[in-house]
Amino acid sequence: MLLLGVIATFFLFGLLFFFLFFFSIIYLSTSSESSSLDNRKLPRSYPLIGSYFAVFANRNQRHQWLTEVIRHSPTGTFALHRTFGELQIFTANPANVQHILKTHFNLYPKGDLSNTIFSDFLGSGIFNVDGDNWKLQRQISSHEFNTKSIRKFVQTVVETELSDRLLPILASAATTESVIDLQNVLERFTFDNICKIAFGFDPEFLLPSMPPTKFAVAFELATMSSSNRFISMFPAIWKVKRALDIGSEKCVRQAISQVREFAQSMVKKKKHELNETDDLLSRLLNSCLLSETLVTDMVISFILAGRDTTSAALTWFFWLVSNNSQVEKEILREIREKSESPNYDEVKDMAYIHASLCESMRLFPPVAADTKVAASDDILPDGTFVKKGTRVTYHIYAMGRMEKLWGVDWPEYRPERWLEKDTVTGKWIFIPKDAYVYPVFQAGPRICLGKDMAFLQMKKIVAGVVRHFRVVPTIEKGSEPVYNAFLTSKMIGGFQVRIERRDD
Ligand code: HEM
Repeated sequence: MLLLGVIATFFLFGLLFFFLFFFSIIYLSTSSESSSLDNRKLPRSYPLIGSYFAVFANRNQRHQWLTEVIRHSPTGTFALHRTFGELQIFTANPANVQHILKTHFNLYPKGDLSNTIFSDFLGSGIFNVDGDNWKLQRQISSHEFNTKSIRKFVQTVVETELSDRLLPILASAATTESVIDLQNVLERFTFDNICKIAFGFDPEFLLPSMPPTKFAVAFELATMSSSNRFISMFPAIWKVKRALDIGSEKCVRQAISQVREFAQSMVKKKKHELNETDDLLSRLLNSCLLSETLVTDMVISFILAGRDTTSAALTWFFWLVSNNSQVEKEILREIREKSESPNYDEVKDMAYIHASLCESMRLFPPVAADTKVAASDDILPDGTFVKKGTRVTYHIYAMGRMEKLWGVDWPEYRPERWLEKDTVTGKWIFIPKDAYVYPVFQAGPRICLGKDMAFLQMKKIVAGVVRHFRVVPTIEKGSEPVYNAFLTSKMIGGFQVRIERRDD
């Protein structure tokens, strides 16, 4: 009976796939909507399958396409028709974002959706829970982000990784004139950093030999696959594959179990040396309020948070700076005003670099979009009706590209839009934007816990790299690297560069 059921399910899904594939091909070859970014209209919707064709046609440029659609909506909000009559609301309207993230915070939790998709990977870690469990984890972890901890992080952990690992690797690439993938190098850097600061463990991922690291590869696969589940128009397909442990879901299960085994071993090891160390993991284990499984979940959430976000931000930063010599000059001027190896206070004081990073994350945010689920019926400030259970996504990538929010020169990389000159000292002063116009770190009660730490880490890296080296992308002149985002953003194909020593 069970076998018959399985065969019937496969048959039905096979049939559905066949029709969708067949019609997608026909659609792509005949429709004016096909994968074009000048499609100014709302995507067409059909009974049962909603806007599946438009989503399929734009699957490799999802964020760019959604941005075009949002940009042409008068309110900055539109409802995507998913399959079987389900809607997903996308917004780039700051009033709506403030409503979701702050004034009606309790009405827009992560909800069951996030839990179903991420529970095998993230368990009940901070990224995947709401309510009291989230509050407790946030409270305990927030100690790790006070000034004392961040100072220690910048002056010891980042400093050592920079001077002992990153700079020698770049120097060697400059000497041998070889091409390196800077995105990969930065990912290794931030991976080592997050493990050291949070767990007192050095995975030695950034070494001249660029060792293959089983754990990091498994983490990458688990992240990408979980994210694909999230955007899937037919969730039943991955659910069936997971239940039967076949295809991509089998690989995901294997990757996730490797990740969890590694995190568990880190927790167990730490338990034996609790009195000798002072880091987030020791604090979590000492708190007595959290079970070993929950601590393991938290470890995974923290690696996710600290790993690819800052490396993604820096990748796009170096790309933009390499194409804007005036910005590069101003950054260099600021670096040369400070000492060779700037301390915490000097790094904090680098207003121009701070603005340059904010500006690059406006155009290429490390987290492209964030989704909540309405806990009851509601009306957004722009009048959009939200039915209970609807996914509501604020689209960070689109928000950085709205003329209404940034002016006609929004495509320009211009750090000066974040700065004013002090009329007395002539120094740059950083002027922050409204957090709901620029929710790159989210905003409201769930604002990113690692924001200050991330800025200081990134500024320290920029100061070290730009002082000594020029980053020269090998991509053909006039071409643009491709942005895509899974849970965090990526430069597709990596960031291939040559490194030149700065002798001037
Ligand atoms: C440029 C770097 C970073 C960006 C753009 C960024 C952005 C974000 C965003 C958008 C969220 C909300 C995600 C969600 O709820 O789904 C978030 C949450 C969070 N981030 Fe970051 N992040 C960065 C770096 C870091 C670092 C380095 C750490 C820690 C070492 C960190 C720790 C966290 C934590 C713990 C949360 C969860 C907060 C909560 O739910 O209460 N982040 N971050």
